[in-house]
Amino acid sequence: MAGETPEHPVSLSALAETVLGQLESKAADYVFGGAGTEDTMRANEAAFRRWRIVPRMLRDVSARDLTVTVLGTELPAPVALAPIGAQTIVHPEGELAVARAAAAVGLPMAVSTVSSSTLEEIAGAGGGPKWFQLYWPGNRDFAASLLTRAEAAGYRAVLVTLDTFLPGWKTRDLQTAWQPFFDGLGIANYLADPVFRSLLEKPPEEDMQAAIGQFVMQFSNPRLTWADLEFLRSRTTLPIALKGILHPDDARAAREHGIDGIVVSNHGGRQIDGAIASLDALVEIVDAVGDELEILLDSGVRSGADVVKALALGADAVLLGRPYLWGLAAGGEAGVLAVLRAILAELDLTIGLSGHTRPAELGPGLLVAEPR
Ligand code: FNR
Repeated sequence: MAGETPEHPVSLSALAETVLGQLESKAADYVFGGAGTEDTMRANEAAFRRWRIVPRMLRDVSARDLTVTVLGTELPAPVALAPIGAQTIVHPEGELAVARAAAAVGLPMAVSTVSSSTLEEIAGAGGGPKWFQLYWPGNRDFAASLLTRAEAAGYRAVLVTLDTFLPGWKTRDLQTAWQPFFDGLGIANYLADPVFRSLLEKPPEEDMQAAIGQFVMQFSNPRLTWADLEFLRSRTTLPIALKGILHPDDARAAREHGIDGIVVSNHGGRQIDGAIASLDALVEIVDAVGDELEILLDSGVRSGADVVKALALGADAVLLGRPYLWGLAAGGEAGVLAVLRAILAELDLTIGLSGHTRPAELGPGLLVAEPR
């Protein structure tokens, strides 16, 4: 505030507008789009607007400590970067730039199975804590291979995404007739995997179309049931969180199957149009398993104040999604860093201004539902 104005818009909605105007339209549609009428995508953000913070005064907030431990990882603040695939569609450095920015502020980055660089390359970028997001493939040996590689590369937890065993009805992508994967983007972990390669007749270097075809076969396995979790549990000693939980009974089932945590998420409104907003699903889930499972939340987090609201309603941490991708699109590593710093600073200020010094102090008493 000494006269040097920032390079990118500080307001995240202004940043989103700028990026929307700059990205190639099919990439913009892929990033900004949701399922169907995009009702759930809008509902995610609207759910945060329906809660208001009621601050408390005169409580010595001079020293604040935002540190929390989630899934065995110590975080400087209760925020991690959500897994987002194929990030080179918005910036040539993709996940490598994001990894460096996340490391600079010490936040964990959840690396997608469908990342643009391999999980090993991303682990080497920046040196910050990493979690591996698993899209559980059809072939079990391949699933086990991905987990082994993640462990060997130093990943500290596994997020298993459960809401994507079938594609969402994403009207914008259907209109542009485009998916990054069919252009060979976002399949680096597959092409580099010894088990995946063993499923191919010719190496991808000789027949990329056949490799992309095998990727499509392997990407998902809609036959899986809760009983299959035992296999994952037996194949890794890392903490496991299930991503995409919206029903309290599924949260209870996760607990009964020896899972460490869940991510309350509707995938940013990209899977089921009309699905419940993540924040609206949180309260009942916290009532059901809050004392026994670690609970993360994503979908619709757009500010430090949103983080405070999720924590007050019982989340242990949040995953930040699209906003860091806007930062990446606008300015690579520096753009991501600007977004992360903004969220962290506003989070710290909101905790302090509301009369608190630590995330553990936040509870439902901090919020009131906005009158309708
Ligand atoms: C995602 N998300 C996602 N999730 C996942 O488990 N694996 C993945 O590869 C991806 N890829 C992906 C790409 C894009 C472009 C988006 C926007 C999202 C979902 C992501 O982890 C998270 O759940 C949402 O981004 C949260 O919603 P908001 O807050 O970004 O709207």
